[in-house]
Amino acid sequence: MTAPAGDRAANGGASGERPLLTVEHLTMRFGGLVAIDDVSFQAADREITAIIGPNGAGKTTVFNCLTGFYKPTVGRLTLEQEGRARIFLERMEGFRIASVARVARTFQNIRLFPKMTLLENLVVAQHNKLMRASGYTVRGLFGFGYGREEQKAVEQARYWLEQIGLVDRADDDADSLPYGDQRRLEIARAMCTEPVLLCLDEPAAGLNPRESADLNALLTFIRNEHRIGILLIEHDMSVVMQISDRIVVLDYGRKISDGDPEFVRQDPAVIRAYLGEEEEEDLPDIVKQDLSLDGAGGAGAPS
Ligand SMILES: Nc1ncnc2c1ncn2[C@@H]1O[C@H](COP(=O)(O)OP(=O)(O)O)[C@@H](O)[C@H]1O
Ligand SMILES: [Mg+2]
Repeated sequence: MTAPAGDRAANGGASGERPLLTVEHLTMRFGGLVAIDDVSFQAADREITAIIGPNGAGKTTVFNCLTGFYKPTVGRLTLEQEGRARIFLERMEGFRIASVARVARTFQNIRLFPKMTLLENLVVAQHNKLMRASGYTVRGLFGFGYGREEQKAVEQARYWLEQIGLVDRADDDADSLPYGDQRRLEIARAMCTEPVLLCLDEPAAGLNPRESADLNALLTFIRNEHRIGILLIEHDMSVVMQISDRIVVLDYGRKISDGDPEFVRQDPAVIRAYLGEEEEEDLPDIVKQDLSLDGAGGAGAPS
């Protein structure tokens, strides 16, 4: 790992980067249930944008709309990159979103191939690239072009195994890894597809503090060195507050706050959503710490 963890200032803070993803008026209904209600936000290139909110707030549904699992009832989801035509994700077929729009995701539950080795998991992720190199023919599989691409795929896999510190376990089955390592392997696998936008659904869930710190370091490394946009759904406030450039807060399908971590941390609407109407003072210390309400971080005054 070459990038410093939690080094948000080095990235220029929460603004200044151009929008990579623009979500406008996103609405998703399931029958009578409105899971997302007219939500708009932007996520910038080279930034980590966190999406937080209580259970059932609609966070995963946002990802499902972005990655083509659901067709939004209403809304525009625009991916914009320098030198590339704009892509309207809501119009694109799901399977093309990963390969053409290059939006990658991980899931709330681990979805590795448990009985494949670490290396195999990372090479299989590059299937699209390899199939293109084969010209989609069996003969192509034995051609020079395919051999070269296969070599590159293995190198790419090795690179990511090095970044997550698991290169010496390359030939072990994925399910032999501790939970935290499996989580990071999933992120490595998503990175092997060379995404421009990486969507991570609760990657820190179930991690111990040490694993959580490793995850922070990995995400900061990806943002700083690979310079892509990251959308991060996360409950763990120690992860969110430390590494996010911007935070979007959802509650009952609506956006209730949006800004840099300092702003969101002190936004009364956010405090209410998380705490109900209770007084902050009545909360146990551990809950206050979790919400970073005790001022322990002490990072600057409200603006
Ligand atoms: N496929 C679906 N069919 C019906 N309801 C759904 C579906 N997916 C999500 N929901 C509902 O949408 C709401 C938001 O869910 P979700 O996006 O998973 O929340 P979060 O990830 O913030 O916990 C919940 O009430 C959930 O039950
Ligand atoms: Mg969810």
